Amino acid sequence: MHIETYQADRGALLPLFTLADDSAAQIAGYIALGEVLVAREADAIVGHVQVIAAEGAGVFELKSMAVDAARQGEGIGRALVEAAVAFCRERGGRRLVVSTAAADTGNLRFYQKQGFRMERIVRDAFGLATGYAEGLFVDGIPLLDQVFLDRDL
Ligand SMILES: CC(C)(COP(=O)(O)OP(=O)(O)OC[C@H]1O[C@@H](n2cnc3c(N)ncnc32)[C@H](O)[C@@H]1OP(=O)(O)O)[C@@H](O)C(=O)NCCC(=O)NCCS
Repeated sequence: MHIETYQADRGALLPLFTLADDSAAQIAGYIALGEVLVAREADAIVGHVQVIAAEGAGVFELKSMAVDAARQGEGIGRALVEAAVAFCRERGGRRLVVSTAAADTGNLRFYQKQGFRMERIVRDAFGLATGYAEGLFVDGIPLLDQVFLDRDL
């Protein structure tokens, strides 16, 4: 497995973007932004991370990331975050932001293991108004609130 910047049609990565975000409308709004790094094995792409510039000097955001369901838990996600950190540092990055659902305790563990700390919560970020179906749950917890986390670079 190696990680490289992705230059081809991002439509081919839609299954991975969809794994990371339940809203097709949201994905359509950001899929073209920033840069995408992919974890590649021979011809197969097994994970991605999208890095975009965020508000403030030297601030970047991990806008989307996912690892193929069959390959999760093998360290690929950690390697993608490490590659994104290096990518941002090379571009003068000072701070890296990410957000996830408060309901997704697995993701909260994953990001905290990568050095992120919780910064703020946006209540009711996930709902019809923002392009999410009603009644979505993650591990039995309603998908409602969004947690922002950040770490120094
Ligand atoms: C979140 C995700 C990218 C993590 O990638 P991964 O390759 O499975 O993660 P890794 O194998 O590198 O795990 C790194 C550490 O995080 C932990 N971790 C990863 N996913 C976890 C989960 N769902 N629950 C608990 N811990 C988790 C691992 O146990 C590991 O911990 P360790 O250091 O104690 O061994 C991946 O599970 C995924 O694609 N999920 C679906 C899409 C998604 O939710 N994307 C994020 C949207 S914000």
